[in-house]
Order: sequence, then structure tokens, then C-alpha cells
Amino acid sequence: MTEISDFLRQPLTIGKRRIDNRLLLAPMSGLGHVAFRELLSAFGGYGLMFSEMCSARAVPRENRYHSRVFRWRDQEVTELVCQLFGSDPDVMARAAVRVEEEGFFGVDINLGCSAAAICKQNSGAALLKDPPLAAKIIAAVRKAVSFPVFVKFRTGWKDDPERAADFAMRFEDAGADALTFHPRVAPDRRSRPPKWEYIGRVKECVAIPVFGNGNVFDRNDCGNMIKISRCDGIAIGRIAISKPWVFSMWTAGFTPGSDIYKTTALKMVDLLEAHYEPVRALKYFKKFAVYFTANFRFGHSIYSRLCMAGDMQTVRENIRNVFNTPLETTTRPNMNMFVS
Ligand SMILES: Cc1cc2nc3c(=O)[nH]c(=O)nc-3n(C[C@H](O)[C@H](O)[C@H](O)COP(=O)(O)O)c2cc1C
Repeated sequence: MTEISDFLRQPLTIGKRRIDNRLLLAPMSGLGHVAFRELLSAFGGYGLMFSEMCSARAVPRENRYHSRVFRWRDQEVTELVCQLFGSDPDVMARAAVRVEEEGFFGVDINLGCSAAAICKQNSGAALLKDPPLAAKIIAAVRKAVSFPVFVKFRTGWKDDPERAADFAMRFEDAGADALTFHPRVAPDRRSRPPKWEYIGRVKECVAIPVFGNGNVFDRNDCGNMIKISRCDGIAIGRIAISKPWVFSMWTAGFTPGSDIYKTTALKMVDLLEAHYEPVRALKYFKKFAVYFTANFRFGHSIYSRLCMAGDMQTVRENIRNVFNTPLETTTRPNMNMFVS
């Protein structure tokens, strides 16, 4: 085992709870759904998983068996944090109460999503233009629940580490138990490298745990992010979709066999079919495949060969054909496929 896995496997207290592993699955809409999380659970090696973002307005009356995003397996709920987006403190607090009642590990407040559809509702990263309102939301949620309250945020709308540090202090003062910080400005949709040194600045300013996030793709990146920022843990996004076994590789010494790509893709198909109706299952497979095929040289062509399908049975046949012969993998994911 390496120094990095030793670090990642140190326990950490978050609010009144504890985790035994500091490597987390970052929230990703359309990717981090219940089917993917079941795939990931089988590999293990993570500390917590974050759900896709859920609308705080919808959560109090959602049916977990019909909702697309507010859906989970009983076996995962204690290691799952539900991410909420919204802009009204009372609405966010009400949703957080339901999340706590359902038995989740914690709730996460989305202050990072810069998608127009979310920002237009004054939610996600738009709230970083109104720090007092963001703090009010956190305080309202804090007051309503006793389980851990996480906040995920970005640098803001200006590339200034001092603003990020100021946000972090406000969020801690408002009652957040942990922060996940993605050091990019809001309009940047992952095209430029994140500034990991800003995570260090945030970490210096608060006493609560800080999880660094952004462009961690291999074990060296983990080590470098920890060295540069002294963060308490790491949340990984896209690489977790590309290689759902990375958590287990980096924290538990798992070594993937040569058929890992084929077996993982087939398992993903089975799980998507088990959790979703056929049209959505196919849509989610195609989304997953963008990141999964970033593992290969000529990933675009492999993507087309896998996804030229109108139903899941054809996807299965495509997977068997594509992975019938060994494919050339890349040491780092194909970045062109990673910028979405
Ligand atoms: C397809 C996609 C969907 C995402 N959805 C969310 C989301 O719902 N909530 C959120 O806070 N961040 C979301 N993110 C951002 C990720 O959590 C993460 O901050 C970002 O991908 C950078 O981390 P990475 O380089 O490890 O992927 C999303 C990212 C991607 C690629």
C-alpha cells in the first residue's frame, strides 16, 4: 500500500459522524445515479457517495420509487449524501428534513452548478453572486437537521482565491460541517485546469474538513492535490465513471484484470435495466459511455461502436464485439471526451 492510500484511509469526523475513507464520489447529474452507485458499491473503496442534484422543491413530495434522481437502495443510504439545489432557505430546509428522515449520511448544498437552467433559478453557482443568501440557506438547513451539512462550491464568478476563502468562512460560520471545493470560476465548464493552490487557501481559513475536487485522474494527481492544498480528502468525478474501480485501486490495493472493461460495461447495462425503464436506461448508458470510452485510444470510434444501438440488447452485443479483442488503453483519460 502507498502513502496516498494510507492518507485516504484515515478516519475523518464530519459533524457528529465519522467516515473511514477520505475518497468520495462527487455529485454528477446523469452519471451518479442509483445504477452507477450500485456498480461502484461492488468495487467499494470509497468513503461516501453523493447523489445527483435533486430539486429542493420536489424532494418533500418525491416518491423514491418513481423519481429519476431522488432514488436510492436501502443498502447504500448510510453512505450516501443527497445533494440539493434551490434558492429559498425554507424550501431547502424542508427538503433537508426529508433527507435526514430517510436515513442519508448527510445533505449537500449545491453552490457550484453553473448550468444555465440551474443558475436561471438563482440556484447553484448563481448563489455565489449573493453570499448572504447562500449563508442564509446553509443556516436554515443547519437549524432544521442534526446530520452533517456539506456545501459544494466553486471559486465564484471572479478568479480570486480571496473570494473563495471568504465564501468558505461564511459557510463555516453559517453551520456547514464540511466543504467540497472545485477551484474553477463558475463560467468555466472544465476546459481550463482547476487551481489546486486555491484549495490550500480555503483550507487555511476554516476548521471544518475541506475536500478538494477537480482533475484528479490518477494516484499522482491525488498525491499532488494533497501536497499542494493540504486538503482533508478528495472528491472525484469523471474518473470514477471512467474507472469505477479507482476507489478500490487507490485505497484498497485492487488490481483490475484484463476483462475489467467488458465485465464492467455489461454490469452497467444490467443495472441500468434493473433500475430504469428502457428508454432512460439506454440514454444513461450512452452518457456513461462517453467517460468509459475515454480510457481508450481512438475512444470516439469505440464510443460509436458501443452506442450505435436502439435498445439495450444491441448494446450488450456491441460490448461483446468491441471487447472481444484487446484495446489500446491510455494512461490518462482522453481529455477531449472529458470536456463536456
Ligand atoms: C456530467 C456532469 C454532471 C455534473 N453534475 C453535478 C451536479 O449535479 N452537482 C455538482 O455539484 N457538481 C456536478 N458536476 C461537477 C462535478 O461534481 C465535479 O465538480 C467536476 O466534474 C470536477 O471534478 P472531476 O475533475 O473529478 O470530474 C458535474 C460534472 C459532470 C461532468
